[in-house]
Amino acid sequence: MKLHVNARRTIGKRSPMLYGHFIEHFHRQIYDGIYDPGNPLSDEDGFRSDIIEAMRRIRVPVMRWPGGCFVSSYHWKDAVGAKRQPFFDKAWRVEDPNTFGTDEYIRLCRKIGCEPYICTNAGTGTPEEMSDWVEYCNLETEGKYAKWRIENGHAQPYHVKYWSIGNENYGSWEIGAKSSEEWWRLVKESAKMIRHVSPDAELSAAALPDIDWTMTLLKNCGQYLDWISLHGYWDMVPEKNELASYEQCMAYTRQVDRAVMDVRGLLTALHLEKKIKIAFDEWNLRSWHHPNVHTIQQGVGKESYLAPRDKNDDNSSYTMADAVFSACFLNAMNRNCDMVGMANFAPILNTRGCIYSHKEGIVLRSTYHVFDLYVNYMGDIVLDSWNEGQERRLKVISKDGKEVDTQTLDILATQRSDDGTISIAVVNKDPGTEQRLQIRLNGMQEGSYNVREYRIAGKTTDSYNDVDRNEVFIETLPAKRSGNGYEAVLPPHSVNVIAFSEM
Ligand code: AHR
Repeated sequence: MKLHVNARRTIGKRSPMLYGHFIEHFHRQIYDGIYDPGNPLSDEDGFRSDIIEAMRRIRVPVMRWPGGCFVSSYHWKDAVGAKRQPFFDKAWRVEDPNTFGTDEYIRLCRKIGCEPYICTNAGTGTPEEMSDWVEYCNLETEGKYAKWRIENGHAQPYHVKYWSIGNENYGSWEIGAKSSEEWWRLVKESAKMIRHVSPDAELSAAALPDIDWTMTLLKNCGQYLDWISLHGYWDMVPEKNELASYEQCMAYTRQVDRAVMDVRGLLTALHLEKKIKIAFDEWNLRSWHHPNVHTIQQGVGKESYLAPRDKNDDNSSYTMADAVFSACFLNAMNRNCDMVGMANFAPILNTRGCIYSHKEGIVLRSTYHVFDLYVNYMGDIVLDSWNEGQERRLKVISKDGKEVDTQTLDILATQRSDDGTISIAVVNKDPGTEQRLQIRLNGMQEGSYNVREYRIAGKTTDSYNDVDRNEVFIETLPAKRSGNGYEAVLPPHSVNVIAFSEM
């Protein structure tokens, strides 16, 4: 097979927010995670400097917070000001000390250098509580909430641009779940009140690839929204932590853009495709493991619903399956960058995150290196490309026992707008066979190029990183020179970036 890259045909310019992240008040993401006062590795504000440094290296562009399910019974006013009252978080059935609230979150975003993106409580909350939050963050001095922010020591408004109305209020597991009729009415009134505070806020609302739900939302609220939020987890293991194998995970790569394609169609049918962008604002190969809380019958003893959450911390679970799947997902979002404007890895830290933290340091799990590769080595202009000749196919058995036929190679061609470098991501999903790919650069001067190859492969499909183990990392191959044609050799289970810069 030969890959033709057409440097003269642009698919779109992808937003840096395709490489966004999410952090929730769940398990050790916030407390004993990024917010770890008293740890020698933490700074004067109690934030872990080593974790912030790792986040800065992958240039986190936007960080969604505070949930997730957590937010649907969270009241932001309890977590600002001098007197913080601990509250019982009914979503995750733990006490939250409320010592990390809006002011701490904004301070953290400034340290990371990312945009804040606040998800509001549309479960037990009200349009007024949501818009009061916007007042607190965005008004200069008007009203009691801006004055409260100033009284709390923050004279300048925070200029929070991105706001989501609710989380997954369509789901029975969510506190304050809503019917589609209830949902659009709440979204509309919440959007109105938020817009009356910050007319330039960019508003999102939770949606589904479900046509009826999303059609009802868009028909009634489309004029109030700038984004529509989608979530995706493929290996669903909330109750039983029985993880799909590498080959089973490759079956999921067939589906990564299904939700996007469905919502694209709806937005286009409603003539909203130029007005509303898609925010895939929670995604991960695997769902989080938290048995007996998303169920009608709740766990009784903490050993049934709290202790099992530690299983998310098993670093051996985060292998080349996660890296290969994540690269295929990011390729799909880039290919849809004309309508997908944001994607948030869920979560960034601990649980299923790409960074794991412990008291003495951090572990960079396999997907972290995919973000490093895409953020720092791929271009921002998505180019057209096509395959000449027989496309290689991979047959795998899915977790539910079906034979799935998928492309062996998942490819994305890009160009850097700053220096013209052509960077091509090629994912080889095959678990055991190296692939060779002829690449042809069309629409470029016939000439010579400096070629750099960067690769994440691990030793096996099950390679992982841990406190005392470093098997998955970006390998930089020796530079080569090439004309407009080049043959790439792609190891099994690998994510590769081949960068061509004119000599
Ligand atoms: O498993 C974590 C949960 O996944 C998030 O809180 C929620 O948004 C999604 O259902």
